[in-house]
Amino acid sequence: MSEDGDISVRWEVGSEFHWDEEAFVQAGAGLPSWLPTPHAMFTSGCGALISLVTQFHGHPRLHLPSFFCMDVVEALASFVDLAWYRELPDGQGPHLDTLDAAAGDVVLAVNLFGRGHREPWDLWSCEHPLVTVIEDHTHDPLSGWARTSHASYCMASLRKTLPVPDGAILWSPRGEELPAATHGENEGAWLKLSAMVLKAAWLSGKDVSRSEFRSLQKAGEAALLGSMTEPTALTRVVLPLLDVWRLRSVRADNVRVLTESLLRHVDGEWSPLTYGAPGAVPFNVQLLCASETTRDSLMAHLARNRIFASVHWRQPKSGISSGDDAAIECASRMLTIPVDHRYHEADLQRVVEALGRSSLPGL
Ligand SMILES: Cc1ncc(COP(=O)(O)O)c(C=O)c1O
Repeated sequence: MSEDGDISVRWEVGSEFHWDEEAFVQAGAGLPSWLPTPHAMFTSGCGALISLVTQFHGHPRLHLPSFFCMDVVEALASFVDLAWYRELPDGQGPHLDTLDAAAGDVVLAVNLFGRGHREPWDLWSCEHPLVTVIEDHTHDPLSGWARTSHASYCMASLRKTLPVPDGAILWSPRGEELPAATHGENEGAWLKLSAMVLKAAWLSGKDVSRSEFRSLQKAGEAALLGSMTEPTALTRVVLPLLDVWRLRSVRADNVRVLTESLLRHVDGEWSPLTYGAPGAVPFNVQLLCASETTRDSLMAHLARNRIFASVHWRQPKSGISSGDDAAIECASRMLTIPVDHRYHEADLQRVVEALGRSSLPGL
């Protein structure tokens, strides 16, 4: 029977969020808004960054961490001169001795996987007052660092951690003027919303084709890349209604439980990242594999078990790359297991079992 026909296989870990009313706060809960004020909203995180660097800084030199998303870099590349500093997912933080920024330059400081420490950046910013630092809080928009930042600007793409089809916020802890989104909405966000609604129906056993909503997701995502428009009206209305603290706390528990469980099974072929600033809520669980071949086989094995892990981030041999061999090497071995608010103990157990089976010969 096909995967769409058999209700018993309508379980998966990963891929995009479904439309999920369970993520909303209950009426009358009276929670204060979690959104920073004031803020500007965009459909995409790239769009927020492009709007900021072009509206306020002409065509500046933008310094990026060498372990970063190359699709985002490609979207930014025609608006800035790219420069790189080393940052690896190894708990050592940014190698600020490799950051060669001059007055008027812009630096993107990323809270990588939500595990980063703010102190090196706070110190560096004090010592370089003529360089604009934009903090990227996409991997944990609610971290203590994000909420009490002193940076010129902070941004976060929101659809990576929250069940909305699009949306990014930009704010300035120093009260700097914020750029506005281009008027109008991006059609890609509506494609993504359609995919989310269909996925919810599929998960609840309805006669919906998985390949159909996957195509809508991919088309929507492609259309969103680099878009500087406003978020959809739906995202704007839904964002303040989400029970963001509860969702984050479920992710925190899931990351802790899965990491502890994997540390008990550690296999020479992969090991989970364990570092993080005090109080950090990581963006899921990252496995560092022994080689690219191991990573790719593990990813395929998990996909056969309906666990769709993601790669952060491919740095292709041709095309844009940081040129940092150490970052390229880490990127070829990293695999992220999504364990966000959608999942519970029984789901984590299935992930642990599938990873346990991965050490069988013939993987
Ligand atoms: C850390 C980080 N920052 C920014 C972005 C850009 O966000 P968006 O995809 O909304 O443009 C991404 C996207 O993958 C990201 O992972």
